Amino acid sequence: MTATDKKSLIENRVNEGLKGQWYPVAKSVEIKTTRPYGARLLGEKIVLWRDGTGKIACIEDFCPHRGAPLSYGEIHGGNIGCRYHGVIVNGEGVVERVPAMPDCALEGRKALTSYAVTESNDAVFVYVPSVDQPEPPELVMPKELRSDSWTGFLCTSIWETNHRYALDNLADPMHGCYLHAESFTLAYGSKQDLMKLDKTEHGFRVERVGQVGENFDWSEFEIHPGNMFCFLDIPYPPAAGPGGFMRIVGFVTPIDARTTKVFFWRLREVEGTARESWRFLYRAQLEENHWNVLEQDRVMLEGMPDDARKREMLYQHDLGVSRLRQMLTRAAKAQVEAEMKAAEVAAE
Ligand code: FES
Ligand SMILES: [Fe+2]
Repeated sequence: MTATDKKSLIENRVNEGLKGQWYPVAKSVEIKTTRPYGARLLGEKIVLWRDGTGKIACIEDFCPHRGAPLSYGEIHGGNIGCRYHGVIVNGEGVVERVPAMPDCALEGRKALTSYAVTESNDAVFVYVPSVDQPEPPELVMPKELRSDSWTGFLCTSIWETNHRYALDNLADPMHGCYLHAESFTLAYGSKQDLMKLDKTEHGFRVERVGQVGENFDWSEFEIHPGNMFCFLDIPYPPAAGPGGFMRIVGFVTPIDARTTKVFFWRLREVEGTARESWRFLYRAQLEENHWNVLEQDRVMLEGMPDDARKREMLYQHDLGVSRLRQMLTRAAKAQVEAEMKAAEVAAE
């Protein structure tokens, strides 16, 4: 393999999404005992459902008989039945029964890949194994989502853009006072600044030098062995009532090289009666404002060409964007090298 081939493998891995990661794929409430849920993750079709005990199964969305989507089928006693000719597969991807054919040899065969699944804070996470990390490490959630003093709402959205652009957008606080200049919460602060970048215990923080607490002025990325996420604060203007900033925790899931699913928890640290009044105010009023802001991001990112980064000219504000890309490329390189090595060993 030439150096150029390897470079393009690495580039493709970043584009399609890193393996060896937990990714959120759905809200918990969307996965039911009554019908299967079809999704895509890193270009692969998967299907999820809950068995009678509430446990979630996730396997390839492909019937071992002739390839029909299992997600068009139905749940039978905790297993999934194909709509086409009735073949029943369990959560491990093993054929349980072929009802149309007595004593069929397919029964008992492990036919499909199954995935590790876990739930946290109203979201369902699926682990995509990698050659160097076949077993799922612990899913590390942000501290706000492990604490009782924070409360909030999970919102998800599908964006027709590469996941890298969604990540870049989060590593770029400077867009707040421009793209969101017309919004309810982000219309404040100065439009000129420098950026700085600091290493943190598990990642990095990028922030405006001249302003903190006025607008979307900083963001932080945490990178763990099996997942990564970002968080940032949106200060509330006085019109939003009493209380501090709103914290956004974001996870970005690559559906394929052109589609992304974003998971944002919108959180506030409020307890007692203030908590209920905030939750009420959020649903009644604030949620719509936040959707409008998110739509501004979506529309902008979807409008950018897939290969924008081949022609872009970064400047000082793009420190966070550059660091993020460096990290993704480094992780992709380690994965590609591990795969090349495994292929060599297999060929010997
Ligand atoms: S394709 Fe699924 S049972 Fe035939
Ligand atoms: Fe934004």
